[in-house]
Amino acid sequence: LKRIRIDASKSYTVAVGSGCVAELGRELKAVAETARVMIVSDDNVYPLYGEKVRKVLETAGYTASQFVFPHGEAHKNLDTYGLLLEQLCAENYSRSDLILALGGGVTGDLAGFAAATYQRGIRFVQLPTTLLAAVDASVGGKTAVDLKGGKNQVGAFCQPSLVLCDTELLSTLPDTEFRAGMAEVIKYGAIGDSELFKLLENTDMETLRKGGDNQLLEAVIARCVEQKKQFVQNDEFDTGSRMLLNFGHTFGHGIEAASGFRVPHGYAVAAGMCIISRAAETRGLCGRETRRRIEALTEKYGLPTGTEFTGEQMLPYIASDKKVSGRQVKLVVTDRIGHAGLVPVNVAELSEWLKDGGVK
Ligand SMILES: NC(=O)c1ccc[n+]([C@@H]2O[C@H](COP(=O)([O-])OP(=O)(O)OC[C@H]3O[C@@H](n4cnc5c(N)ncnc54)[C@H](O)[C@@H]3O)[C@@H](O)[C@H]2O)c1
Ligand SMILES: [Zn+2]
Repeated sequence: LKRIRIDASKSYTVAVGSGCVAELGRELKAVAETARVMIVSDDNVYPLYGEKVRKVLETAGYTASQFVFPHGEAHKNLDTYGLLLEQLCAENYSRSDLILALGGGVTGDLAGFAAATYQRGIRFVQLPTTLLAAVDASVGGKTAVDLKGGKNQVGAFCQPSLVLCDTELLSTLPDTEFRAGMAEVIKYGAIGDSELFKLLENTDMETLRKGGDNQLLEAVIARCVEQKKQFVQNDEFDTGSRMLLNFGHTFGHGIEAASGFRVPHGYAVAAGMCIISRAAETRGLCGRETRRRIEALTEKYGLPTGTEFTGEQMLPYIASDKKVSGRQVKLVVTDRIGHAGLVPVNVAELSEWLKDGGVK
């Protein structure tokens, strides 16, 4: 079991290990000696792991109930959020109780936002079951649901009390979902961890996904969490250095939105990282070898290095992004593997960047 301590406005532990759900009871004791636990999960994940988690909780002396909602981003909305709050209230959950998010980023964001707001805030713990949630969404305290007008448009910063990442739970994840998470893992390597990047170059998805006591996957997730920890501790509320985590995301968001969110987030981010690296290379901001390695690694994990969408289709979404302030957008550029910086770019120049990045 690898333990990582995060010291943000609240301190908490991220524990990563294979089979560590069995230790949930013991880990929870440090958070709440006794409590009722509302397990929040979607209808894919609850049937796989819900009863197992409930048994572990009950064995440790906790009382559990569950809120199961239909899977998918479309249900990360105010309706589901309202139903969850009403159920907490109907079951008389109080501030000494806990919410436990068992699932991917959709579940974590929804459960976290409910925890941030129910009775002005109750504690929550995260049991991520997707690679994306393990390396990104479950750590850092961003919680939100979507509005009809846009993704994550209502939410709160609210750190969890514990994150327990059992790599065994990832074994049932479809390959496409695992790949989508790999895009974020590659991102961490590119912007801040050249050793991780090399490790990914020297292994492959099959090896990473191998069942049993998979120390490699554990190590990879822990490295990503270590890095996210630094960003969260230095810039919890996302006004400065945490923006580097947006590598590939600005153009990626353009692809996602242009596709009507049919291109999964991770696939769009992968393409976004390659597009910006090519554009940066033509401006002398990214080395040729760096760009080549980013493209090669993206390809190696079965992710796209470009997009069918045109600049014209992508631009409106890029220019209206949350990250754009005034007429300027700060693009994240990896200049060499393991190091990235922000490049302020005029919105009017974005179409040139896209063209130079190979977008039609
Ligand atoms: N809070 C943050 O900092 C942060 C960061 C990144 C992304 N996000 C959010 O995360 C969401 C995306 O997360 P996601 O990719 O995990 O999506 P998700 O939660 O929808 O999970 C993807 C799919 O995999 C299924 N699934 C999950 N775990 C499984 C398992 N172990 N076995 C089989 N199937 C499983 C789910 O039911 C779902 O259909 C987005 O809403 C995004 O906004 C939040
Ligand atoms: Zn992302």
